[in-house]
Amino acid sequence: MKRFLPDEAATIAFGRELLDVLPNDLAGWTLLLTGDLGAGKSTLARAFIKAAGHTGAVPSPTYTLVEPYTLAAGNIYHVDLYRVSGEDELRYLGWNELDDGCRIVEWPDRAPGLAKQADLSIMLSYEGEGRTVEVIGLSDRGHHLQWGHS
Ligand SMILES: Nc1ncnc2c1ncn2[C@@H]1O[C@H](COP(=O)(O)OP(=O)(O)OP(=O)(O)O)[C@@H](O)[C@H]1O
Ligand SMILES: [Mg+2]
Repeated sequence: MKRFLPDEAATIAFGRELLDVLPNDLAGWTLLLTGDLGAGKSTLARAFIKAAGHTGAVPSPTYTLVEPYTLAAGNIYHVDLYRVSGEDELRYLGWNELDDGCRIVEWPDRAPGLAKQADLSIMLSYEGEGRTVEVIGLSDRGHHLQWGHS
């Protein structure tokens, strides 16, 4: 699935669509968000978390590594691995304990082994004034999600 996102509003709408496409029970889902600096990873994650019912701020997890949200839809863990170097460091942030919710991960390439246990790769790239998003299923269930056309 590949789509042009002409502006920030389109990225936000896509974050909502992502939540709609996923099952109601988000437990155990792992979503990897890749893209260069400023590509819109945090914009997308913020829209996803707000669509799931969070009404407050969505601070960047760059320093805390994980920002947890307990929502009606279940737990969402917003993870940023920018400052992490390698799988070994994942245990410091309690990665394995985050499997009761949905992990949405910025800079997953910092821990390359994550791709094996993830469901979706969501890649944002610059295209003119806007962005392109490309989604690839990494697991069976990720592969079988039904995306609408637009
Ligand atoms: N589809 C889009 N078209 C144009 N601008 C966009 C689009 N989506 C988001 N933006 C803008 O791009 C900027 C990038 O923001 P964001 O913080 O989400 O990027 P990021 O990928 O998380 O960056 P970083 O790697 O530094 O954390 C914001 O100013 C946002 O408004
Ligand atoms: Mg960011």
